[in-house]
Amino acid sequence: MSYNKILVILPITILIGFFACTNTANIPGDKKPVAIDTPVFTPPDTSTIPHDAMGDMIRYGRDLVVNTAHYIGPNGTVGKYLGNKMNCTNCHLDAGTRPFGYNFFSTHARYPQYRGRENRILSLGERINNCIERPHSGVPMPLGSKEIIAMECYIKWVGTSVPIGKHVKGDEGVELEYPKRAADIAKGEALFAKHCVSCHGKNGEGIMTADTSTYTYPPLWGMKAYQKGSSPHRVLKLARFIKANMPNKLAVWNKPVLTDEEAIDIAAFVNDDRIHPRPEKKDKTIPDYPNIKMKAIDYGTGPFVDTFSAMQHKFGPYQPIIDYHKKNGLPVIF
Ligand code: HEC
Ligand code: HEC
Repeated sequence: MSYNKILVILPITILIGFFACTNTANIPGDKKPVAIDTPVFTPPDTSTIPHDAMGDMIRYGRDLVVNTAHYIGPNGTVGKYLGNKMNCTNCHLDAGTRPFGYNFFSTHARYPQYRGRENRILSLGERINNCIERPHSGVPMPLGSKEIIAMECYIKWVGTSVPIGKHVKGDEGVELEYPKRAADIAKGEALFAKHCVSCHGKNGEGIMTADTSTYTYPPLWGMKAYQKGSSPHRVLKLARFIKANMPNKLAVWNKPVLTDEEAIDIAAFVNDDRIHPRPEKKDKTIPDYPNIKMKAIDYGTGPFVDTFSAMQHKFGPYQPIIDYHKKNGLPVIF
């Protein structure tokens, strides 16, 4: 390259670098509200995964997230860890890259992290095992296994440009307005019949692939679906996901099909343990949320730090609980 060319390219590179930095400076910090006009985070394209030892692990990690049952399901080719035949991507949509779809945008940037359910700091590998145990009803994988490390490499790659400790737009649930009333299970049932039954089935059982190795449409309840006490078992956590993403491919986070109320009613119907069974944690000697202050508002199992009933925590109305927590200096966790 000629000296002249370097003279031209250098200032351009510095300029591009400057704008790139200005952009990242706009990325909102923890807990700060994200400005409406901030664009959602875009993860890198898979074609940019390098062709070296790290790239091979990233690709394997992505493959594990997409074809989880094949590798580590009940008949897994590398080990039998999951208790069901779901894949991570059934919930972490588009292999954890869909905005507001339980994605992995800022996951690597925020781990190790304190977790209220365990009341201790968890590494990213341990958090992956959390999902393998619940919702997948499985047994944890060795933290040093090639599979855990590959998934960590993939999750790190998804959030390549996310600054440590930060959130980016699209990495959490969509905002919901809470109805003044409790969620209406009967309305949820009717809406489910209209918007969800065609793919997820009348009994929420989903539809398996022809070879029954996994699902075309994953189950929503029953003994093969996610567990009690796992994140999607919480009504608001699930309603945010449903509003932004379901019916699949029809709803988009900024063009939802359902209203907030409808999403909450459907989530309440799906997660109502009085009508819909699901697997439970086997070892009950270790309680969830040993520090009850750290329970999410919509976590439906007591004891609670406040005087609201388990039914109100689970199905709402949520605003009085939120107001009470704020008034009494208690954490408001979602
Ligand atoms: C039935 C749905 C479901 C399945 C299947 C599932 N997860 Fe999750 N996972 C969740 C939900 C819900 C959360 C919480 C997301 C949130 O808080 O926004 C979560 C959180 C996580 C987190 C923490 C994300 C963060 O940014 O804090 C990781 C890592 C994770 N899951 C990995 C996996 C992996 C790997 C698999 C497959 C082995 C898997 N999950 C399968 C539902 C699921
Ligand atoms: C057109 C088919 C279709 C319709 C209709 C549909 N879904 Fe889904 N749903 C899917 C698919 C496919 C996935 C898994 C996505 C993947 O693996 O890429 C999914 C995933 C889910 C998940 C997370 C995985 C699990 O099984 O827990 C939930 C929850 C869910 N859908 C709820 C709903 C609800 C509620 C409705 C109705 C408002 C609905 N879906 C309508 C196809 C559909």
